[in-house]
Amino acid sequence: MTASTLNRLMLALFGSLVFVGLIMEYTAFVFAPQVAKVAGYALPTSAGATAPAAAPAAAKETPLPELLAKADAAKGQADAKICATCHSFEKGGAAKIGPDLWGVVGRPVASVAGFSYSDSLKAAGGDWTYDKLDHWIAAPKSMASGTKMAFAGEKDGQKRADILAYLQSLSDAPVPFPK
Ligand code: HEC
Repeated sequence: MTASTLNRLMLALFGSLVFVGLIMEYTAFVFAPQVAKVAGYALPTSAGATAPAAAPAAAKETPLPELLAKADAAKGQADAKICATCHSFEKGGAAKIGPDLWGVVGRPVASVAGFSYSDSLKAAGGDWTYDKLDHWIAAPKSMASGTKMAFAGEKDGQKRADILAYLQSLSDAPVPFPK
């Protein structure tokens, strides 16, 4: 192999290396990876999102004494049909899924002997006032979060007042409504 042949070979080799190098540079330039400056995905920001509409002013609820003043025990008895699936209403009635409700107004909370109340209701304490019963019937879980009373709640205030009027009648000495 002569020196000039070697030279040409070296030149050819060098030339191809330069060529490959140029192609690599070019592809790197064309297909440059977009390296994120911060790790993770870009999440949509709340900027520009419309602020939640101001909550409407809480609807004015009619005070309980006013609802009780026009309450109807007969309607309440009809509305209490759903309660009767779990409660008896007779004097000395047996416990069903829930305790007997005769004379419940004014009696201490969770006080029927022999009935196995939830710890949650036992912890509530106090006596069953109309106000307390109203809250209870509206949302049992909001008064005793761990209650065993599987009843979602009666949302209609007047219906609750009617039921309270019916409960009032279940007594030898009915407790008068609060003024
Ligand atoms: C699915 C069954 C069920 C239904 C329906 C139900 N209750 Fe109850 N109720 C219970 C159970 C169980 C308890 C005991 C709760 C506890 O220990 O946490 C209870 C407890 C009560 C208590 C407390 C009694 C006490 O001695 O302290 C009152 C008052 C009451 N219920 C009223 C009602 C009324 C009024 C209705 C209808 C609007 C109703 N319940 C519907 C199952 C029911």
